[in-house]
Amino acid sequence: MGAGKTTLGDEVARRLARPFVDLDAEIERHAAESISTIFATRGEVEFRAIEEKLACEALDSAPPAVISLGGGAMVSKQTAAKLREQAFTVLVEVDVEEAWRRARRAERRPLAESESQFRRLYEQRRPLYDAAADGRAEDADGIVLAAAGLLVEPGSYARLRDLVPEQVEVVVDERVWELHPPLLDAPLHAIPAGEQTKTLGMCARLWRELRLERGGALVAIGGGTTTDVAGFAAAAYLRGIPWIAVPTTLVGQVDAAIGGKTGIDLPEGKNLVGAFHWPERTIVDHELLGTLQEVERRNGLAEVVKTGLLAGEPLWELSEPDVVRRCAAFKATVCLRDPADEGERAMLNLGHTFAHALETASSYDLPHGEAVALGLLAALRLSGLHDQAAQVEELLQPARPAVDADLAWAALERDKKARGGRMQLVLLEAPGEPRTGVELPEGDVRRALADLIA
Ligand SMILES: NC(=O)c1ccc[n+]([C@@H]2O[C@H](COP(=O)([O-])OP(=O)(O)OC[C@H]3O[C@@H](n4cnc5c(N)ncnc54)[C@H](O)[C@@H]3O)[C@@H](O)[C@H]2O)c1
Repeated sequence: MGAGKTTLGDEVARRLARPFVDLDAEIERHAAESISTIFATRGEVEFRAIEEKLACEALDSAPPAVISLGGGAMVSKQTAAKLREQAFTVLVEVDVEEAWRRARRAERRPLAESESQFRRLYEQRRPLYDAAADGRAEDADGIVLAAAGLLVEPGSYARLRDLVPEQVEVVVDERVWELHPPLLDAPLHAIPAGEQTKTLGMCARLWRELRLERGGALVAIGGGTTTDVAGFAAAAYLRGIPWIAVPTTLVGQVDAAIGGKTGIDLPEGKNLVGAFHWPERTIVDHELLGTLQEVERRNGLAEVVKTGLLAGEPLWELSEPDVVRRCAAFKATVCLRDPADEGERAMLNLGHTFAHALETASSYDLPHGEAVALGLLAALRLSGLHDQAAQVEELLQPARPAVDADLAWAALERDKKARGGRMQLVLLEAPGEPRTGVELPEGDVRRALADLIA
């Protein structure tokens, strides 16, 4: 009671494009009476029976819904069992003082008539909530993060031992191993970072070194290249074992370790082989970012700006812990809505078609962050958002690379061939309003690309 479940549930359902069921409202609709009246005239036992029936119906509903459960629903063994089997249950944390302050003001709270009764119930129910909780949260971002398996918490890296299962092996970026030795008593496989690590050869090395059985899990600690290759190794090893991502770069924490895309490169191109393999858990500790080099920080900042443009909020202006949390929650939301990348997840490519073309034309000399910054400029200009383009240019100050314009165009055309012969761009109607699958006249796209080149 008083945790804010209805408001948060409604918000989370909207974000995840799911139906929302407020169980208390359903009960009142079904009984054609207020909850207080049901309690007064029929008693709590009958109320709980209606609650149980409607909770189980809601849990069986298709498509899956976000359900806000009344504070006492968990008392039903049948509801609790169904929650365990069929739901991801998030405990909305609130301290008892705040909950009482809110509950005493609200109507339809027959069990919140006195503070002592309220506190007694809180103490009684707390163990039931703890037992049922698959995740815990205090706000809508927290609920989405929990649902996506993300734990975003400063200091979590030091607690790694408590956060991973017993049977694990660890793939760790060599540099991270030196800077932040993982406190895990498990076999370690140190690998170099960088794009050159995302190969079939590296997967083969890991597959041959691993001694994990099916019940075990792989822990990947490092930037996006480490989590991409280790995640893919986990996806195929023994036909798939669980894995846990521990991203250590800004790129990893706001992007690469979220959403379940894993993969490796081929000489023919980036990320050409991979799998969707959602990590069991992603553990994000922004304190690890303190040792990042400036160029890596800028790579991450470009993705943060992209996320802010998609979200329609200047997320890059927040403090680092908030940047990480908000961006991670945004990406998690998009990926939960479209886990198999069949539709709107394409928005995450904002600026990336141009970025990849420039990277290819520079033979990968151009840092990814610089390329994304330039790609964002092109996307904003083609969207007619010239003020935002100027703002992004001032913020990221990307230098125009001296690459061959024809080579860059050819690389961009390769994207075109991959999508049925027509170039599909991601543009913005306005900040916060992405449009995917946009087709523009070739001349406009060519000019936008040429404007990025020195
Ligand atoms: N799977 C996805 O959805 C997804 C999304 C975006 C990017 N990616 C992939 O991510 C990769 C890029 O990731 P990245 O930018 O993290 O690169 P990276 O993994 O190569 O790391 C960059 C550098 O940072 C170092 N490093 C890592 N953690 C550090 C720390 N805490 N302190 C100091 N140095 C540290 C690494 O050793 C490396 O030198 C690309 O391959 C890209 O394709 C994947």
